[in-house]
Amino acid sequence: MADQDSISTRISPDCLPETQRVLTAAWSHDIEAIKKFLDVPGKASCQDPQTGETPLHAAIRSCGAPSEDDTPEDLEAAKKTVYELLLWGGIWNDLDDHNETPGCVARRLGRTELYILCVEAGVRAEMLFGLLDGYEELSSGDAEDDDNDEGMGDANGQVEDGDEAPELVDVDGQETDGAPEVAETPTFQRLALESQQDVKSEEYLRSKLTYSDGKLVDDAGNGVMMAWESDIMRQSVDALLPGKEPGKRILNIGFGMGIIDTMFAETKPARHHIIEAHPEVLEHISAPDSKFGSSWEASAQEPGAFKVHKGKWQEICQQLLEEDQVYDVIYFDTFGEDYAQLRLFFTDFIPGLLDSQGCFGFFNGLGGDRKICYDVYTKVAEMHLLDAGLDVDWKVIEVNMEELAEAGKGEWEGVKRRYWTLDGNLAEYRLPTCTFLG
Ligand SMILES: C[S@@+](CC[C@H](N)C(=O)[O-])C[C@H]1O[C@@H](n2cnc3c(N)ncnc32)[C@H](O)[C@@H]1O
Repeated sequence: MADQDSISTRISPDCLPETQRVLTAAWSHDIEAIKKFLDVPGKASCQDPQTGETPLHAAIRSCGAPSEDDTPEDLEAAKKTVYELLLWGGIWNDLDDHNETPGCVARRLGRTELYILCVEAGVRAEMLFGLLDGYEELSSGDAEDDDNDEGMGDANGQVEDGDEAPELVDVDGQETDGAPEVAETPTFQRLALESQQDVKSEEYLRSKLTYSDGKLVDDAGNGVMMAWESDIMRQSVDALLPGKEPGKRILNIGFGMGIIDTMFAETKPARHHIIEAHPEVLEHISAPDSKFGSSWEASAQEPGAFKVHKGKWQEICQQLLEEDQVYDVIYFDTFGEDYAQLRLFFTDFIPGLLDSQGCFGFFNGLGGDRKICYDVYTKVAEMHLLDAGLDVDWKVIEVNMEELAEAGKGEWEGVKRRYWTLDGNLAEYRLPTCTFLG
């Protein structure tokens, strides 16, 4: 990759002189020069039209991999440059032509301190979007919408003295308004976060589903649930119910393949409620050979103690609150919903539905196809959980990616998009267990 990371490859001849100057200053960590450029809106996020190089990519890439020749001064200058660029609106999740964000480059090169600066910038940006309620907009992928989405950055501002900002062209040679592509981060759950085709909740709930050996797939070929996640489900149950004591009150949101519900049922709960909204999943649940059909409901010691609530959790949970239902264990794992929905759930519903000594868990697929997005969303979720009065303990599980390596092969056969693609053969899944703060 060394050649692909050289300055001559990254700053193309097509690059406008103004952009070249910013990129070159960033590449050489020339802070004084950079500061002069950066008081013009949009400069910190300008991009080479061929390579997608931004000043942040350049400042990080020029460090190369750590070597004996590094001096502490070099690293300090790189950190200051990255910090300055972020301060002036450099965008943490801009993508270059290799589909790398600046943080991805830092990580690939082994520049941990620079990677951490990018993660921190991502957390700040996402927390700000949270305050502005902007999760959906950030993921639109629409240049017009994204103009205002990048916090301090304005990708197509005016340059000095009223000169027009450089017109950028995208890699296909199309003129753009300068708004760079960003790695989408906020889509929740098992959706490939960079997917062009976003699955929306309403659309998903109307889609046709197919249950086939080891997976549940919608009519567009998106994996809704797959058997390889059984281990994550098993470990989630172990974390939420460590002693597997019988007699607990359990609420599970999202039936899917019924993997976690089967495990919950084995602990012999006193109450086991399931919320499911998809008509075909509900049909599957009420099939004669289903473990969770009417005979299961009738087998409860008290009427209504074992129950599949049919409908969206957004409505059912409201009813459960009104009925004063309280649970010892709550698990949340839906599909096609964004992070804002998860946050809504733990902020508005967990305080009323979870026993003061209870445990709450959720499927943590946030940002699951890009390490930096996963790291940013771990932090963002942690801070929002804290805001909701919840303490979170993350248990790290290793997911063996080797067998899940290629879309359309092995476990992923028949699944159009992979939703879990963190790189490396072993990826870390961070399993959350949340309890009320002291
Ligand atoms: C990933 S699957 C759950 C898998 C489950 N944890 C298991 O072990 O098999 C997600 C489920 O959530 C359901 N779902 C999606 N949106 C929902 C909503 N708003 N309310 C209730 N269920 C929903 C889907 O139909 C799907 O059955």
